[in-house]
Amino acid sequence: MTRATPSRRALLVGSAALAAGAGAGAVGMRLSDGDAGANPVAARPDDAGPTTVSFYGEHQAGITTAQQTHVSLVGLDLVRGVDARGVEGVLRLLTDDAARLCAGRPPLGALEAVPAVGVRRLTVTFGFGPGLFAAAGVPQRCPAGVASIPAFSTDKLEDLWGQTDLLLQICSDDPTGVAYAQRRLLRDTTHAMTLRWAQHGFMPVAPEPGAPQESSPRNLMGLRDGSANERDPAQAAAAVWSPGPGPMAGGTQLVLRRVRLDLGRWDDIDTAAKQLAFGRRMDGSPLTAPPGTSEFTVVDRTAVDEAGFTVVPPNAHAARAQARGAAERMLRRGYNYADGLHADGRPDEGLLFLAYQADAATAFVPVQRRLAEADALNTWATHVGSAAYAVPPGCAPGDWVGRTLLT
Ligand code: HEM
Repeated sequence: MTRATPSRRALLVGSAALAAGAGAGAVGMRLSDGDAGANPVAARPDDAGPTTVSFYGEHQAGITTAQQTHVSLVGLDLVRGVDARGVEGVLRLLTDDAARLCAGRPPLGALEAVPAVGVRRLTVTFGFGPGLFAAAGVPQRCPAGVASIPAFSTDKLEDLWGQTDLLLQICSDDPTGVAYAQRRLLRDTTHAMTLRWAQHGFMPVAPEPGAPQESSPRNLMGLRDGSANERDPAQAAAAVWSPGPGPMAGGTQLVLRRVRLDLGRWDDIDTAAKQLAFGRRMDGSPLTAPPGTSEFTVVDRTAVDEAGFTVVPPNAHAARAQARGAAERMLRRGYNYADGLHADGRPDEGLLFLAYQADAATAFVPVQRRLAEADALNTWATHVGSAAYAVPPGCAPGDWVGRTLLT
């Protein structure tokens, strides 16, 4: 008979106590490998096959990983009284679960293996909110960029979608796999955490017929989203990963904004007006280049027409958002959401804006300030949720996510 979850939890959580001062990673490895249960083999980096993304590595997966079509963002809060040992315990459990799930294996203690098999590029990415650092006894380790996202004049934030202590970003090309992973991960948090929210997002599974295979996915406004993201891997790395030295080296900072869109009104304006609002055409090409030009062409926000007016209106989204220097660069990895109806009967739909950057204080904050001041998109977009997280570097087999940051 398969070992039940409680004994496994006792083993892994209990290991936190043993680990104090005794090589935490090594203890975790021994327990994972030794707990034969239903899944005797610990996950390893070389498990990554064509449908799996390795959980382990220098950086966490799910950030520069080619964007999967589905996401569940799970926001959790620590139960009052959980201390550093408790934080370590739950992170050990979740690290072990996530590594197995991403390799197509059920977590330890699962009675059925089948739901975990055949995952489609599942990734689980951990983000830590300021409350998690505080509970772990190291509040000063929370990066300033994460701890100090200011209020913006256009915010209409709802408590429901606020900051949490922990974020699990679960991505896959298969929504069934996302739901399974979410369920199994949550199961191992109940002793230490409460679920605040789960936000589900999606993207088109493929570009429309005739579009280039590498096209950015379209958002619910019908626009390609992500065109201006850095494509050169070295440049993207410089924008995303926190530089060393220090425990955040190889990690990053994530800003999540739930942006509700009034798509009924958006549908009622013509194509020319839509394109002027963004500075790009529906095919993705910048208004400053001929139609059909690659979406990866930069928008020239200074180009003027014969009359001396800028081709792209100064309040167009791309013109306002464009980085004014290297420090403002970010990797946007957003997802559409459509969550039924509001109390007022209108659809609750929009964009789960996700941006990864080395420092949110020099990237997201100044850009969002410019957008709040004057962005044509504000006519249809309302920011109703906001949260920011320190995303620790990746870990090696036997280690747990966040150890270098929290201990
Ligand atoms: C509902 C909310 C939003 C939607 C639908 C949206 C959509 C878009 C679209 C369609 C583009 C042009 C294509 C591209 O380069 O990806 C774009 C560009 C961009 N957006 Fe947004 N966006 C939203 C919110 C935000 C927010 C909150 C920020 C940051 C604070 C942001 C930052 C950027 C940046 C940096 C660019 C690239 C500009 C450039 O260099 O040309 N966006 N966005």
